[in-house]
Amino acid sequence: MADLLIRDAVLPDGRAGVDILCDGGRIAEVAPRIGASAARTIDAQGMLVSPPFVDAHFHMDSTLTYGMPRVNASGTLLEGIALWGELKPTLTQEAIVDRALVYCDWAVGKGLLAIRSHVDTSDPRLLAVEALLQVRERVKPYLDLQLVAFPQDGLLRSPGALASLKRALDLGVDVVGGIPHFERTMADGAESVRILCDLAADRGLRVDLHCDETDDPMSRHIETLSYHAQRLGLQGRVAGSHLTSMHSMDSYYVSKLIPLMREAGVAAIANPLINITLQGRHDGYPKRRGMTRVPELIAAGVPVAFGHDCVMDPWYPLGSGDMLEVASMGLHVAQMTGRDAMHQCFAAVTSTPASILGLEGYGLAQGCRADFVLLEARDPVEAIRLRAARLAVVRAGRVIATSAPSRAALDLPGRPPAVDWMASRNGLAPTAAP
Ligand code: FE2
Repeated sequence: MADLLIRDAVLPDGRAGVDILCDGGRIAEVAPRIGASAARTIDAQGMLVSPPFVDAHFHMDSTLTYGMPRVNASGTLLEGIALWGELKPTLTQEAIVDRALVYCDWAVGKGLLAIRSHVDTSDPRLLAVEALLQVRERVKPYLDLQLVAFPQDGLLRSPGALASLKRALDLGVDVVGGIPHFERTMADGAESVRILCDLAADRGLRVDLHCDETDDPMSRHIETLSYHAQRLGLQGRVAGSHLTSMHSMDSYYVSKLIPLMREAGVAAIANPLINITLQGRHDGYPKRRGMTRVPELIAAGVPVAFGHDCVMDPWYPLGSGDMLEVASMGLHVAQMTGRDAMHQCFAAVTSTPASILGLEGYGLAQGCRADFVLLEARDPVEAIRLRAARLAVVRAGRVIATSAPSRAALDLPGRPPAVDWMASRNGLAPTAAP
């Protein structure tokens, strides 16, 4: 007998009436009306089963520290970095681990089962690195945590930063990070990109740089990153995170840049919740949105993921690990309200980041890992619209979290006793087929 059978699901690609059979932690079969039986059966009642949410960009060492030791008064990236610098000397490994484990619980409850987290390697004690390596092991049974060695204070700007970053990689951190726009000069920024890409090529690692997180249209480190990705044959293994300067760049220059990124196999990771709040802070009106050019990148064939980046930390006071909230903000900021575009926003928090992270066995095909989420929605667009309840979160064929359906009891004369926001339950047409 198999472990788990899901009956009558809709998949993100629009296939309906699908059963999913799970056995030994893998998906054994995906087909209509599977004849086998299982130890546990869940009737999806025509609702959406999606592979788990994936966050391509997060900071788990700073999460849940909001207000410590004070809040970010200006709301800028640079004050956030300064504030994090004030907080760092007071951190303990135990406190970082405790907060990270709480955040991972939140993530699991929201069906978020894979996170790429940057970890600050500036502190020569590597306190945060050791803490998150420990967390990576502890959460492994239920959440894939991929770590990026991130020299928050600059690779060349901060003495000893390169040595600390290399030690973090020696300890088992997965990906090479950087922050070229925070180096002292554009030239130093470009040099840091070269050093980091060479290092990644030598060690066979992926690269994910905080890149051009600024409103300065002349911040063009993404061009340098694409150049080195191409030079070193790192296609498909390199991501530029944030890329907010692209919002402000001259469009003629961008018409050259995006094909370079495509040719170099560089992915883009936008962080809509954070950049809509951090960017444009020096502007009068009109204020720039400060998110990278998402639809144009996707149209050119550049993979684009949306990351959460921050939850309750020196840069952002809100958030709950809900990647549907992230997708919704990305959709709004990029004005991606077209039918295909809305589905692309769902992919930006599921399949696209899964491929950027290189997750093994991700998806809903036979042989994939039996990891998925049953959402209270009929399709990905409705899931985004409702931030749909995660009715069941499944990892390796086992239900690891459940939520109640979203309802409000009503007490109105002549009206139904409860509100249900799903379109189909109100006799309305579905929001969108793929
Ligand atoms: Fe970040």
